[in-house]
Amino acid sequence: MYGGDYNPEQWLSMPQILETDIERFKQARINTVSLGIFSWARLEPREGEFDFGWMERIIDRLYENGISVILATPSGARPHWLADKYPQVLRVNEMRQRALFGVRHNHCMTSPVYREKVRVINTRLAQRFGAHPAVKLWHISNEYGGACHCPLCQEAFRGWLEKKYKTIDALNDAWCTTFWSHTCDSFEQVESPSPLGESTVMGLTLDWKRFVSDQTIDFMEQEIDALRAAGAEQPATTNLMYHFGDIDYFRLAEKIDVVSWDNYPTWHKGPEWETARDTAFWHDVIRGLKKKPFLMLESCPGATNWQGVSKLKKPGMVEAGSLQSIAHGADAAMYFQMRKSRGGEEKFHGAVLDHYDGDDTRTFQDVCRTGEMLERLKEVAGSRTGALAAVIYDWENRWALEGSRGPRNDGLYYEESVEKSYRALRRMGLNVDITDQRGELSDYRLVAAPMQYLFRPGFEEKIRDYVEKGGIFVMTYWSGVVDENDRCFLGGTPHGLMDVFGLRSEEIDALYDWEENTACLPGQEDSASFWPESAGMRRSYTCKYLCQLVKPTTARTLMVYGKDFYAGSPALLRNDYGKGSAYYVCADMEQAFYDDLYRLLVRQAHIPSAWQGPLPEGVELTTRSGGKADYLFLQNFSPDEAELKLPEGELLIGRPDARLKHLETLVLKVPRP
Ligand code: GLA
Ligand code: ZN
Repeated sequence: MYGGDYNPEQWLSMPQILETDIERFKQARINTVSLGIFSWARLEPREGEFDFGWMERIIDRLYENGISVILATPSGARPHWLADKYPQVLRVNEMRQRALFGVRHNHCMTSPVYREKVRVINTRLAQRFGAHPAVKLWHISNEYGGACHCPLCQEAFRGWLEKKYKTIDALNDAWCTTFWSHTCDSFEQVESPSPLGESTVMGLTLDWKRFVSDQTIDFMEQEIDALRAAGAEQPATTNLMYHFGDIDYFRLAEKIDVVSWDNYPTWHKGPEWETARDTAFWHDVIRGLKKKPFLMLESCPGATNWQGVSKLKKPGMVEAGSLQSIAHGADAAMYFQMRKSRGGEEKFHGAVLDHYDGDDTRTFQDVCRTGEMLERLKEVAGSRTGALAAVIYDWENRWALEGSRGPRNDGLYYEESVEKSYRALRRMGLNVDITDQRGELSDYRLVAAPMQYLFRPGFEEKIRDYVEKGGIFVMTYWSGVVDENDRCFLGGTPHGLMDVFGLRSEEIDALYDWEENTACLPGQEDSASFWPESAGMRRSYTCKYLCQLVKPTTARTLMVYGKDFYAGSPALLRNDYGKGSAYYVCADMEQAFYDDLYRLLVRQAHIPSAWQGPLPEGVELTTRSGGKADYLFLQNFSPDEAELKLPEGELLIGRPDARLKHLETLVLKVPRP
């Protein structure tokens, strides 16, 4: 699918605009638009009075011109009358202040009135358009997120807790409320976390986050149910947004048919290859939610208007960004937005068409060229992005790390540590899956698990089983420390795995931002005699922020700290357990350490590469596999031209001399043996 968010309800008094738009869309090979995302006030101008005529005319006209529609449910922003008549739909913040009407994405997820009004409008939409041949997919609301602390939500939260814990004693036990006399006598006493009230009980904070996530997912399911009950059969998606922390996306994904997301990298802020790798990480998180092709529903074809500094896209960037999504498993590269609005919040946000109506803008040319490229990649749609290496990134673990008071309250760098492992693997041109602690590990030969501070129930068993059966598992510092309620494990950590890793964690040292230590090969003997596989590792790497001190039992120490009172004690260890190996990285190491270590481990794990020899710096390789062929996507995000030695295959995109200039893409189709 190629296209984007389209808001023609703004131009109903200027019908020629629709005709111009359709002409331009065809010029650019645009085949799909998302309609109605924020159209509720036009669809139901007064309570119970509906007007679908304008939308029908637009959908018909698009359809006649070969353009499909992703139809939205409009719950992301509500009409004025709704908020005025039923103030309960307005969100209450953690300071217990209710919002006035305005902005968007700020309704209560619990309010029975809001749920009912959404059910009604969704039902009407499905009845009217559910059978329209143009409508291919439902776009449920928009970028769900945030929390509401209103009395209705408090009530629902208490019900959720009661269902979970049954008795208040069980809740007190799970939350360790004896500390500071925070014991609850009844569920009625529980309030959501607030700076005005309870903010120190992590068990409460975690359950509140789970509740908000569940409540949002439940709201979404109810939206989908309304469509289904009215007979609509098209698949449903909801557009996700990076690390919007409020919803456990892995859980949400179970309730939708297709995963989609909105991708807004700050291109040109730092080196392009860095931004490209971070963006790749998010594409892979999103693909990992279902392990199936996904949709990039939004990206900006020009400059945004909400970033601190919204830069123009340099020539080639629109195309590179769109093709990157396809490389990582997307079957749609879409934009926000098709046409710039005349007023309102986003009048200066980049769009396929701007206030000047012509087709001779740089952006429009970029969009046309990208459309041509996508045309050449049609056969790639539906193919899979398989991976033999995975990195674990877990929402609940992240929530716990964010709030728990520990060795460093200013900067634990969880995401960065996840990305370090990810980057090291990607650098070798490997596809990498991202999964959470609940994910299946047996598909992988190598799994990286950075900073798994919180262990969800059963996670340790899964790791044990994985290593026992021959997997290579890398865990890092500050792992296996607390259970799902942030209660410290008793009897030694990493919880349940001290024999698997052959060590026990003893202490953890936090470093000031300006401090560093090193991890180095011990002694002066050459590394190979000490650690035979260590060829390729440097003698020393720096580490920062956190240094864990561990006591080995059966683990072999591969590197030791270079400084401080713990100089000489283990910094990297390996323990062979069952048929596999468990590695423990004790400190927040620099990127080069991970690059070198994973190179060794990928060899140990016998993970084949789609690429012979090293990839030029800044060139990203991702592979999609169809039934009969593999598709190798090579993209050059470095400033320098790269020369590649390509395997035999058919070029779908790219120059036969296999030179890749800055931001150029090459797609090679290689038949599968
Ligand atoms: C989000 C929203 C869109 C729009 C864009 C602007 O992703 O979903 O409605 O506001 O941001 O970048
Ligand atoms: Zn509420």
